Amino acid sequence: MNPTELYSTLDRELASFKEAKTFKYEVPLESEQGGEVMVEGHKVVMLASNNYLGLSNHPRIKAAAHRGLDEWGYGMASVRFLCGTEPIHVELEQRIARFVGCESAILHSSCFAANEAFFTALLANDFGQTDYQDVIYSDQLNHASIIDGVRLARAVAKQTVSRLYRNGDVNHLREMLEEDRDKNYRIKIIATDGVFSMEGLLAPLAELRSLATEHNALLFVDESHATGALGKTGRGAVEELGVFGQVDVITGTFGKALGGASGGFIAGSSPLIEFLRQKSRPYTFSNTMPPSVVVASIEAITMIEEDPSIVNQLRENTNYFRRRIVELGFKIIEGRHPIVPVMLGEAALAQDMSRELLGEGVYVKGLWYPVVPKGEARLRAQISAAHTHEDLDHTLEAFDKVGRRLGVI
Ligand SMILES: Cc1ncc(COP(=O)(O)O)c(C=O)c1O
Repeated sequence: MNPTELYSTLDRELASFKEAKTFKYEVPLESEQGGEVMVEGHKVVMLASNNYLGLSNHPRIKAAAHRGLDEWGYGMASVRFLCGTEPIHVELEQRIARFVGCESAILHSSCFAANEAFFTALLANDFGQTDYQDVIYSDQLNHASIIDGVRLARAVAKQTVSRLYRNGDVNHLREMLEEDRDKNYRIKIIATDGVFSMEGLLAPLAELRSLATEHNALLFVDESHATGALGKTGRGAVEELGVFGQVDVITGTFGKALGGASGGFIAGSSPLIEFLRQKSRPYTFSNTMPPSVVVASIEAITMIEEDPSIVNQLRENTNYFRRRIVELGFKIIEGRHPIVPVMLGEAALAQDMSRELLGEGVYVKGLWYPVVPKGEARLRAQISAAHTHEDLDHTLEAFDKVGRRLGVI
């Protein structure tokens, strides 16, 4: 294929996405992120962002970002180990490690990069052994970045085996671990999201902890949708489910509850983190986090530590929305996370409902096949501490109106 043929092939492919209604359109927001935003000239309630604590435009976070800019400059123009480390980077690593209950942490430019880095950095080393295999047991619904991380590890470290267990199914995982008992794997890793982002469901972390201990495996948990959003004091699904301080490796993002800008981290034992500092390629070969984001992320942690009532506000908003939307007659996936999937079935219905809700002042996104199984199209409502009671009531009225109009309720 020459470039001209390639580009026309790509054009045809794009047209087929549009025909299959899988093409992803972007709607520019005409305001900062918040409980309410401006879209197409109208004020609408934002129900599609990961801004769980409403920190994206919080005055304290904005002031901290300004401070970071003024005191530490705009950018570092360097990776960490050349000249890209300021005291604030070290401070953020210490603060986030303590916050999620681990000894140490290492920053990455995103959690995607962190997850992609982790498995290969660890498993592409023989540590002086010649004949061995490593194994990763991965939840079937893990985030794309874990999937890609595992794929990369298998491509680079050919002795790596990966096995998928059914979502949250501890018995399935136990069977696999039993089957593998005699295989003498060198390193075993059980990898899971703390919260699965299409369902808002929590991983069974206490049971996974027990299995990991019984089988000498490392427990790896991606807390991207949980840090700041779950647990009495916002320390994530690990706190919510009683395993705070007991997880071997936690990854997460600064791009959701903790201010919503960008950046990710891996937290774990000191030797592990120091080893990753030497071996993680995205850490070694990609730019450091900018000072404004670092200082604002530290401020986000400080705000939650000083006054966890912000997390409670999120929980109250979530409980209120979950209760009221069911009372209206909608079917949701039950749970306790601010991700509330409103189940609709067919993709066309989810598309129509999302569009009509926007007309009624509510911005909510639909998910359909292939992102979720066929026939399980849904709207994914995401609740924030930034939502006022008026925002939530307006949203519920709009769901009621559009739901009746479209015959969903
Ligand atoms: C579970 C999970 N892991 C990782 C990521 C990626 O995080 P980041 O945006 O920091 O790359 C996301 C973001 O959607 C996520 O939901």
